[in-house]
Amino acid sequence: MREKQTLATRLATPHRITGERLSLLQHEAGALSKGGRVKDISITAVMHAALSPSEVEELRRMFDDEYLDQFGMWDPKEPYGYAGHEVHVVARAYDTVVGHVGWARRLIEVGDSEVVIAGVGGVLVSSQARGSHLGERLMRCAAGSMSDAGGVEFGYLGCREDVVPFYVSCGWHRVSAPERSISRRGLPVLDRAGPPLLVLPVERELASWPEGTIDLRGRAW
Ligand SMILES: CC(C)(COP(=O)(O)OP(=O)(O)OC[C@H]1O[C@@H](n2cnc3c(N)ncnc32)[C@H](O)[C@@H]1OP(=O)(O)O)[C@@H](O)C(=O)NCCC(=O)NCCS
Repeated sequence: MREKQTLATRLATPHRITGERLSLLQHEAGALSKGGRVKDISITAVMHAALSPSEVEELRRMFDDEYLDQFGMWDPKEPYGYAGHEVHVVARAYDTVVGHVGWARRLIEVGDSEVVIAGVGGVLVSSQARGSHLGERLMRCAAGSMSDAGGVEFGYLGCREDVVPFYVSCGWHRVSAPERSISRRGLPVLDRAGPPLLVLPVERELASWPEGTIDLRGRAW
């Protein structure tokens, strides 16, 4: 286990992804099988601060299509009360956003240790593009961008029970621990062990994920 001082110093060090766009992580041409409605898919990773107003609107359109009735309008700073994203991995079919995975770096506490995670949220593939492994490709691009960023030890996310097989097929691993966080309403909460929490080894081995209560020191994603 690395010392707290070392991790805190690394977290404070400006990481490498300071450019407007991280990189063109992947460009794929080819027909998605489902209905042939989505053809050329490009996937790019963009820093939150570098999103143009029109890119924010494109993302809002996709999230609102899915969640407006249930959760209200998408707020890029605190989507549905969850933590915001530092990096957006965005899939486009021609000019339309058809998929998104967001992540943000945070130093959290697990048991007696501190761990640098990339907290993942905003995982969404638009309904017409589902079932053609776009979600999996987005998750793998997100993992690539965590690795490119440097200093990220694990990816981290929480999800519904029924979506666990999706994340497992993307290479993620379930862990079991109580989780302390700030709720969507801004209140401290401690959730019992049980609901799905998953981690992805980035710069550490899976076996080195520490035992003990996870304290996200903020909102979940
Ligand atoms: C979950 C979601 C992102 C998956 O995207 P997708 O492009 O349809 O998924 P993929 O085609 O890449 O699926 C990869 C694998 O995961 C499985 N899978 C996909 N969605 C799943 C789900 N909801 N539950 C269980 N397994 C799922 C697929 O069957 C596939 O398995 P296979 O390799 O054996 O064929 C998409 O269904 C979605 O946006 N759902 C609504 C929003 C949501 O629930 N997001 C997750 C919040 S935690």
